Amino acid sequence: MVGTKIGIDLGSSNTRVFVEGKGLVFAEPSVVVCDAHSGAPVAFGKEAAEMFGRTPGSLSVVAPMKSGAVSDYALTKHLLFYFIEKICKHKYFKPNVVVSMHGGLSKLEKRTILDVVYASGAAKAFFLDEPFAAAMGAGVPFREAAGNVVADIGGGTADVAVISMGRIAESRSIRTAGNALTEAIVQFLLRLHDVEVGFLTAQEIKHSIGGAALHSPEIAVVMNGKHRKTATPLSFEVNSKEIYRAMQEPLEQLAEGIHALIEKSPPEFMADIADRGILLTGGGANLYGIDSYLRRKLSLPVRVAENPAECVINGVGLALKQLEKLLHNGSIYDIESLRDYAE
Ligand SMILES: Nc1ncnc2c1ncn2[C@@H]1O[C@H](COP(=O)(O)OP(=O)(O)OP(=O)(O)O)[C@@H](O)[C@H]1O
Ligand SMILES: [Mg+2]
Repeated sequence: MVGTKIGIDLGSSNTRVFVEGKGLVFAEPSVVVCDAHSGAPVAFGKEAAEMFGRTPGSLSVVAPMKSGAVSDYALTKHLLFYFIEKICKHKYFKPNVVVSMHGGLSKLEKRTILDVVYASGAAKAFFLDEPFAAAMGAGVPFREAAGNVVADIGGGTADVAVISMGRIAESRSIRTAGNALTEAIVQFLLRLHDVEVGFLTAQEIKHSIGGAALHSPEIAVVMNGKHRKTATPLSFEVNSKEIYRAMQEPLEQLAEGIHALIEKSPPEFMADIADRGILLTGGGANLYGIDSYLRRKLSLPVRVAENPAECVINGVGLALKQLEKLLHNGSIYDIESLRDYAE
């Protein structure tokens, strides 16, 4: 196979790019700034994210894969083209690309993503399911005939899967993940403090003082927002206990979603699951206390992978080295193997 091999974790919050022989080369937010009138894209990735919440009326910031679904294929193509161009600008041969996206996509949606990757300039394109990539990247012994549970908590979705013998035996994509926790903070501040904050401010609060367990001692931050009634700028203080309470509902939904997957898993995996527990990956696994919270809710062992946000892209990187084998096993898909639309 000639041409550079590139791996892309096309996340709804962040896109990470891996180049064979180099490793992870960059991670940028999955956002595009568009001209509000023509819809034409004007900035991508990091540059676009810096404009978030500060764009004049003539520009709009779009996250084309927000909430875990590809809501805008044309913009996703532009975004992918931007990432692929960054790597292959002066290369003669087109690259071979493995792309990973959250679980829960139908065959038709996966095929459409591969069409978009081809349209963005790939010579060959392959699809790798996100939980499988996460398991590979986290060093889970996924080829063993035993049930390994991986929960990748991303921005738009939390993807939970039972993996055994190199295959996904059971999986579930939960729409309550990092963004839902951030959104709960936005709503809480509005309801209880009469303060309007942008999504990024709420996310910063979540990262600095948020938790699925109570911080001890309690911590607090001072942030800026807009007073709802007077519409004037306002500085406010919020503490970790308040944020903990604000996130209870989406955290419960997340735990229930994982529980539902365990419940419908085949009985032969139950002993493995009780013994091996659940491995958490994805940026959301960085939330303070998420492991102890899920351990308590699910009565199972739960641990956070090392560098959880990079497990998927590391798994994609490993897949680049064994494309033929994984294709043969049915662990990754090319466009031919996705031709049959019957689900
Ligand atoms: N320290 C932290 N505490 C809490 N949440 C965090 C922390 N660091 C990152 N996150 C959250 O992780 C999420 C992004 O994770 P990730 O980059 O794995 O998502 P993604 O792959 O783009 O999304 P998806 O897999 O759903 O498409 C965001 O919601 C972000 O707020
Ligand atoms: Mg992800």
